[in-house]
Amino acid sequence: MAIRLPLLLAALPFLVNAQNAIYTQCGGNNWTGGTTCVAGTTCNKFNDWYSQCLPSAIASPASSKPATTAAATTKASTSSSAPASSAAAPSASSGASGFHTAAKAAGLTYFGSATDNGELTDATYKAFLSDSSVFGQITPGNSMKWDSTEPTQGQFTFTKGDVIADLAAANGQLLRGHTTVWHSQLPNWVTSGNFDNATLTGIMTNHVSKVIGHYAGEVYAWDVVNEVLNDDGTLRESVFFNTIGESYIATAFKTARAADPNAKLYINDFSIEGTGAKSTAMINLVSSLLDQGVPVDGIGIQAHLIVGSVPTTLQENWQAMADLGVEIAITELDIRMTLPATDALLKQQATDYQTVVNACLAVKGCVGITIWDWTDKFSWVPSTFSGQGAALPYDEKFAAKPAVDAILSSLGA
Ligand SMILES: *[C@@H]1O[C@H](CO)[C@@H](O)[C@H](O)[C@H]1NC(C)=O
Ligand SMILES: *[C@@H]1O[C@H](CO)[C@@H](O)[C@H](O)[C@H]1NC(C)=O
Repeated sequence: MAIRLPLLLAALPFLVNAQNAIYTQCGGNNWTGGTTCVAGTTCNKFNDWYSQCLPSAIASPASSKPATTAAATTKASTSSSAPASSAAAPSASSGASGFHTAAKAAGLTYFGSATDNGELTDATYKAFLSDSSVFGQITPGNSMKWDSTEPTQGQFTFTKGDVIADLAAANGQLLRGHTTVWHSQLPNWVTSGNFDNATLTGIMTNHVSKVIGHYAGEVYAWDVVNEVLNDDGTLRESVFFNTIGESYIATAFKTARAADPNAKLYINDFSIEGTGAKSTAMINLVSSLLDQGVPVDGIGIQAHLIVGSVPTTLQENWQAMADLGVEIAITELDIRMTLPATDALLKQQATDYQTVVNACLAVKGCVGITIWDWTDKFSWVPSTFSGQGAALPYDEKFAAKPAVDAILSSLGA
């Protein structure tokens, strides 16, 4: 486990007489630490409760002076009545040893997180998400899906997706586009339109063209098709499969390539982490698509896993995928548990996160890891799996769980 100096400085401000390091707190009601940021950084006020030293280039001009509410008094007044929405700053925000910095040093292209519009109103959350030493890549959880981008036939709205694309650009983070052709989160007009083959093909290619074209040049990789397989390895019956047939997959990829020749084009699915019928089917499908000259660049492995039940065959399975000559990426990683979270479960979870990171590092074609948001506060798990949660490395109050140091340790930090 690495000692992260800026964390110590942030945690023990009354012991040091130094200027505040980058990404540490520098003000806010009841803040008793220093209010002066090191050279090149500026104390940026997010709200009455929290100010942080940000690179001067990205600190908001409206609040580029030290927060005046941060009158340093005595150590005794450090107890905080801050509302839950502005919990203490997450503690792995060190510029020297964030997830992404460590992942790059270990040979990956990125370590990233999902996010979306709703949680960005939480300033502490947004500041940590925006720290490109921690997250070098972001994925919009929902705002680029069909129901967001084309809720009415032919009427495209990119407002919410643009928020995420603009954030990635402002932060210097890679963007993964998610997702154009999926059986779920489809508007009724698509699922219930009773379109014939030619009409639905036109609707699908128009959607792929418009959405991927809109973000052309801004996206590192697109999940072009999502969850096309059943668990037994057969092709899922969706409106696209039922109407167009298997060729909808190839058509979607070819359309995507034309819309953004530079984006990596991925096929993304769940329950393909370890070996098994579904993984074999994925390998056979991608192999067949490549044989037909279909432009598939990568396999996205979602990795919504369960504490204590991580498959033991990750590395061999991912190697078999990479051996096809495509990239692989861990696209939606979280590792849930049955609540309440106990010390034993959190320890097992840390081990499980390490198993995933180690497997990615061991497979040359594995380019990156994306966690499906970074804090339990905004995890999809509790609302989807009754009685389960605590799936992410940070808890709902942004405190680091054992998984944080475990991931950093696997990444060599
Ligand atoms: C925080 O500071 C405010 C004044 O800014 C004070 O009224 C309040 O009692 C303090 N809260 C705590 C928990 O110390
Ligand atoms: C739909 O049309 C395409 C292109 O003509 C064709 O290849 C495919 O077989 C058709 N699908 C079905 C289910 O008829």
